[in-house]
Amino acid sequence: MNTYKFPEGFLWGGATAANQIEGGFNEGNKGLNVAVVLPGGKARYDILTKPGFDFEIKPDQYYPNHEAIDFYHRYKEDIALFAEMGFKAFRMSIAWTRIFPNGDEIEPNEEGLQFYDRVLDELHKHGIEPVVTISHYEMPLHLVMEYGGWRNRKVVTFFERYANTILTRYKDKVKYWMTFNEINSALVMPINGLGFSIEKEEDRYQPTFQAYHHQLVASAIAVKACHEIIPGSEIGCMILFAPVYPFDSNPDNVLHALKEEQIFNYFCGDVQVRGEYPSFMNRYFKEHNIQLEIEENDLEVLKEGTVDYVGFSYYMSRTEKKEKAAEDASEGNIIGGVRNPFLEVSDWGWEIDPVGLRISLNKLYDRYQIPLFIVENGLGAYDKIEEDGSINDDYRIGYLQEHIKAMGEAIEDGVDLMGYTSWGCIDMVSMSTGEFSKRYGYIYVDKHDDGSGTLERIKKKSFFWYKDVIKTNGKKL
Ligand code: BG6
Repeated sequence: MNTYKFPEGFLWGGATAANQIEGGFNEGNKGLNVAVVLPGGKARYDILTKPGFDFEIKPDQYYPNHEAIDFYHRYKEDIALFAEMGFKAFRMSIAWTRIFPNGDEIEPNEEGLQFYDRVLDELHKHGIEPVVTISHYEMPLHLVMEYGGWRNRKVVTFFERYANTILTRYKDKVKYWMTFNEINSALVMPINGLGFSIEKEEDRYQPTFQAYHHQLVASAIAVKACHEIIPGSEIGCMILFAPVYPFDSNPDNVLHALKEEQIFNYFCGDVQVRGEYPSFMNRYFKEHNIQLEIEENDLEVLKEGTVDYVGFSYYMSRTEKKEKAAEDASEGNIIGGVRNPFLEVSDWGWEIDPVGLRISLNKLYDRYQIPLFIVENGLGAYDKIEEDGSINDDYRIGYLQEHIKAMGEAIEDGVDLMGYTSWGCIDMVSMSTGEFSKRYGYIYVDKHDDGSGTLERIKKKSFFWYKDVIKTNGKKL
């Protein structure tokens, strides 16, 4: 037994996203979204980050998100397993295209609304609190093709309609919300978050930040609506947080790390928590020749729509150096940087750094002084089924243990932490690679990279371990 004291009512649970678990990509009148045009395989990350993607479905190509793990038909079985682990909370997202198949309709799709009624009711039946992300990497494809994604101001209105529809429909079923998943990640992966592919590298800045402005306004509108429609609700932002370390004490590297941290880690959160653009952005906009079109009421809207908590994902830290040689690169790390010689890496090259989680919690709480919620964290790894059918994922348990200890330490540091939903509580499609073999779950799903598999669910060793963690409120790790 250790001494960590997690608060009463701490929201232990797991996290998912509709496009990575549901499947049923064209069932129930659902429309197509950006996730269904992404192929599987390691090339996917290049597609997400490099210019020139065409958003076409090709007849000879396999698309892993189409069936995913079939949560659409198996949600009862899956939620029963989450309940068996004792989940207090389940983070899920609503697929915009189940509710507005093209994104620009006036009337929502009742069949889609009913699907989430059933899922939310099932969670409540088991005493699990839903934590809902309004938009998790799955913009309607029609809005991408016809409107150019978030570059187009009209998308703000479409999103407002979508958000109001689900906030109103589920007002008695959902207390905890988040607007856009990893909103800052579009600085490196514009397709996922902003719904367009840049044409040329040098043209990245102006469209990206104009699209961001629209998305930040839309987020603030949804936050305000949430407070009005659901008194007592809590709605957060959701940031991909990877604390930036300077490679060494060379002041040039320290400054470079600080600047990278401002733009990537803090820009969006500052707007969403404080209700205004941080002053460091003025210089950045000037230096990158960015001229934002800001409408008359926008700044007021941002002020009125500040969030109640900071949701964030944490997988890794990032180490920065001003002058980088190609061989310094930390290849696996999703947001770049140079290799940190003190850290081990996962099977996918993601640097493993539990201390970085404590650092992140301290940095975020020092800056914002509102509750924090870790809504993603976990280890993507290859799992093996033993001859007796067991899956002994001690490496995953070890990873999670160290990160939960870091949370306990941060709470002792004075951080107000409201919950922890580890990523991929059940195996699913990987966002960055489209693989099924990159597994995060406590529950194994028999589904493979070529699309084969029975979809059978199997409890891993970590399933029983996490059950104890929750039961003892983090005392037994
Ligand atoms: C986060 C995303 O970036 O990381 C999730 O919000 C994603 O959608 C998770 O699945 C893990 O990344 P990956 O690429 O290993 O699935």
